[in-house]
Amino acid sequence: MFKIGVLVSGNGTNLQAIIDSINNGFIKNARIETVVTNKEDAFALQRAKNNNIETKIIKVKSFENKQLYEDALIDYLKEKELDLIVLAGFMVILSEKFVNSFKNKIINIHPSLIPAFSGEGYYGLKVHEGVLKRGCKITGATVHFVTEEADDGPIIIQKAVSVKDDDTEETLQQRVMEEAEWLILPEAINLILNKKIKIVDNIVRRIC
Ligand code: GRF
Repeated sequence: MFKIGVLVSGNGTNLQAIIDSINNGFIKNARIETVVTNKEDAFALQRAKNNNIETKIIKVKSFENKQLYEDALIDYLKEKELDLIVLAGFMVILSEKFVNSFKNKIINIHPSLIPAFSGEGYYGLKVHEGVLKRGCKITGATVHFVTEEADDGPIIIQKAVSVKDDDTEETLQQRVMEEAEWLILPEAINLILNKKIKIVDNIVRRIC
């Protein structure tokens, strides 16, 4: 059984997409071993509990410094012997030490077509605000492997979404989730668990 850990900070709709994909058989032979959050009021926790998934709250503020927080997070995730760690709206920037502790085993979902509107400062509604301000006609979402540089790791899947003239940041955010994020995150997990991809020179290639 392929063991997934999901790290969340908010609503958890992407977590829900993974749960649904496992429940409806789109993702086979896998289970979510744990849902970890830095926010005790994250609605994602409720989604996990509704599905009898173990949850763990590890708050940055409970530690003297960020490094000690990360060490605790690393220890907990190692204990779980995970095959894959999914950052699904996890609002903590992770260090090189964290990334190296789970090499090529961490993926992230970002609500734009990377490299556009990605990297430091581009999170949540700020991404969609940037897209609308620039007058982009197309945006989308990206699932990528996590490296020490924000939103810079090898790209696994992207999906485009049209921007409408009357879009607000909120309507665009919702459509990017519905039309892209909730589809490509389970697809990316399937590619990894079924060993359909490899990383060559920092680029994800399909294994035929
Ligand atoms: C999503 O837009 C995701 O792309 C970004 O954070 C948001 C999380 O939403 N990284 P949710 O908590 O999964 O609903």
